[in-house]
Amino acid sequence: MSQAAQQKAKAKDSKKGKKKKNKKAKLTARNANKFVLYQRSVQEPEADVRFLTRVYKREYSRLPMQLREDFCGTAYLCSEWVRSHPERTAVGLDLDEPTLEWGHEHNIAPLGEDAERVSLLKKDVLEATRPRTDIAVAFNFSYCIFQQRSLMLKYMKAVKRCLSPAGMFVLDIHGGPESLEDMEECTEFSDFTYVWDQGPIDALSNITHRAIHFRFKDGTQMKNAFRYHWRIWGMPELCDLMVEAGYRRVDIYWEGYDKDGEGNGIFRKVKTAENDESWIAYVVGFP
Ligand SMILES: C[S@@+](CC[C@H](N)C(=O)[O-])C[C@H]1O[C@@H](n2cnc3c(N)ncnc32)[C@H](O)[C@@H]1O
Repeated sequence: MSQAAQQKAKAKDSKKGKKKKNKKAKLTARNANKFVLYQRSVQEPEADVRFLTRVYKREYSRLPMQLREDFCGTAYLCSEWVRSHPERTAVGLDLDEPTLEWGHEHNIAPLGEDAERVSLLKKDVLEATRPRTDIAVAFNFSYCIFQQRSLMLKYMKAVKRCLSPAGMFVLDIHGGPESLEDMEECTEFSDFTYVWDQGPIDALSNITHRAIHFRFKDGTQMKNAFRYHWRIWGMPELCDLMVEAGYRRVDIYWEGYDKDGEGNGIFRKVKTAENDESWIAYVVGFP
């Protein structure tokens, strides 16, 4: 999960939490919805839209209009994308029907007429989509489900074929020594605790189990609300694969720090970076 997103969401959530303190204090494992908690814990689509727009405009001097959100889950980003501009369109791809249905009901249908500008497809991200889009994203490290190099390469090539010539493919990546550790990280929200659980990593393959649990103030918990079986990819591997897949240039955007040394959610293009304990970055490929 994007720790940057967690930090931002945490700040956002604690503000909301103050306003709705009494209502939210009653959350328990029995009445909570795992998708709501996930969105509150790890996603901040408004910031994603701002970032994507800024990086795209820097390259092509115009606004990006079409988005392909791979591994879209509840399509939270798709919904924010079309909300951000009256002509923007989004296509979201995910294999899990119940997740897509929940996303449609809670994120897309409430858009009203604007919902027509979103297509949610029960499709493998290796499949082609048309029309071609300005941007494709795979966020919150979802691409780590690809455990073989050949499959990751196939995925990058497949995405490239779905991008317009003035296109851009964006992945996020979590790195640093801590990202490989067997550990649990807890983030407190106003009415629940988000737990990011990193299992032991196989030294030869970098394959590991990761899970998200939610704990509540009444002592109940939603264990393994989400589980992942991932290969942890390194920055050079991802960049090399993008070049091999035919992207003409690959840029890296690195997160800055606030005065306390915490990630500040502001990403700048870099050529070199310190291998901090835990870092977040975006890899951006131009076809
Ligand atoms: C971690 S969630 C991503 C949610 C959201 N994109 C985000 O940024 O937080 C991963 C999603 O990928 C979906 N998924 C896994 N393999 C897939 C594949 N090959 N094609 C499409 N979706 C896939 C799962 O169903 C799950 O909803």
